[in-house]
Amino acid sequence: MTMVKLTPPLGWNSWNTFGANISEELIKQTADCMVESGLRDAGYEYLVIDDCWSLRERDANDRLVADPAKFPNGMKAVADYVHSKGLKFGMYSCAGNLTCAGYPGSFEHEFIDAATFAEWEVDFLKYDYCYHSPIIPGEILYRRMGLALENCGRDILFSACSWGADETHKWIKTTAASMWRSTGDIFDKWDSVKDLTKQQANLLPYNGVGCFNDMDMLIVGMHGKGNVGLSGCSDIQYRTHFSIWAFMGSPLMVGCDIREMSEQTKAVLTNRELLAINQDTACRQPYPIKGIWQDSVTAYAKNLAGGDIAIGLFNLGSEKAVSRFNLDELGLPHSTGKTLKLADIWTGKEANTANASISWELEPFDCAVFRAKVVDRK
Ligand code: GLA
Repeated sequence: MTMVKLTPPLGWNSWNTFGANISEELIKQTADCMVESGLRDAGYEYLVIDDCWSLRERDANDRLVADPAKFPNGMKAVADYVHSKGLKFGMYSCAGNLTCAGYPGSFEHEFIDAATFAEWEVDFLKYDYCYHSPIIPGEILYRRMGLALENCGRDILFSACSWGADETHKWIKTTAASMWRSTGDIFDKWDSVKDLTKQQANLLPYNGVGCFNDMDMLIVGMHGKGNVGLSGCSDIQYRTHFSIWAFMGSPLMVGCDIREMSEQTKAVLTNRELLAINQDTACRQPYPIKGIWQDSVTAYAKNLAGGDIAIGLFNLGSEKAVSRFNLDELGLPHSTGKTLKLADIWTGKEANTANASISWELEPFDCAVFRAKVVDRK
């Protein structure tokens, strides 16, 4: 079985920081930390081991084998520990012969691998797209594993990772995927955040309940350390990155070493109001707002369940920017007698809507996110 997810999945994934340096010890410490830091209680539920967990060869029965040097007690023991902390356990495989890092993939082993994951009590499978057949279309490969998971006797969330290749958006909802990587890999530098944000714009109509656009794991708090760590970002840039991912309804998979995260990183990752926008039950598509601003600014609104409107103003550039738009853009022309009451989630600063428009100054790389209430104009 695979479950139907009603809001974007949240969790942690080993790849961004640890790459191949994964172990039972690391996963246990991370599980402990997800609880102690409050990440679990904020909603981060899945603890996912990415690539490089297995031996290079299958066993005599054609089964995948956990590398005993990294996981001396096997994967079921890891799953048990993760479950004992009230978390769910995720693993990784690939639609090709090999995973991206060259370990055995699940091609032509879909059902036996799904059975193995079910036996280990895995709850989530990230499924990559390296070394796949040049002849068999991706949609068939993903439907295969989707079917294998749906028939494995356990609820396993299917997380597709074909990076948007081969027009994934056109067929992904024919598979059992609950989330799908809509863009290429993230790296821990600002340009990467900018690129993924721009690439996402045209794909927003494909996001929604049951199958969420995955903009890739978060780099918040990496500060250049780890597997995809490059120049790193400033805390302001990480906050804007998190705000965009949350706003656009992406699954949020933490990618930093949470055992060493700063208070600042924790505050960003656990911001209740941003998480509430991300987890809004209506899962409506954010729409671009038209207004007056520098090219570096991108602005979206999202109509939330119950009538509030989330508004996000994101300055992707290195210069200070001023943005202004009319409430008309949000469906509130003067004739309605209504206006908005709104304060920036990050700073608490209130916006002035007296002249039926909103003007806001954005520092370099900064953002403002509002949860606006529709109120009578006085
Ligand atoms: C691909 C994926 C990444 C990660 C690596 C592992 O690049 O897109 O998210 O899983 O493979 O090798």
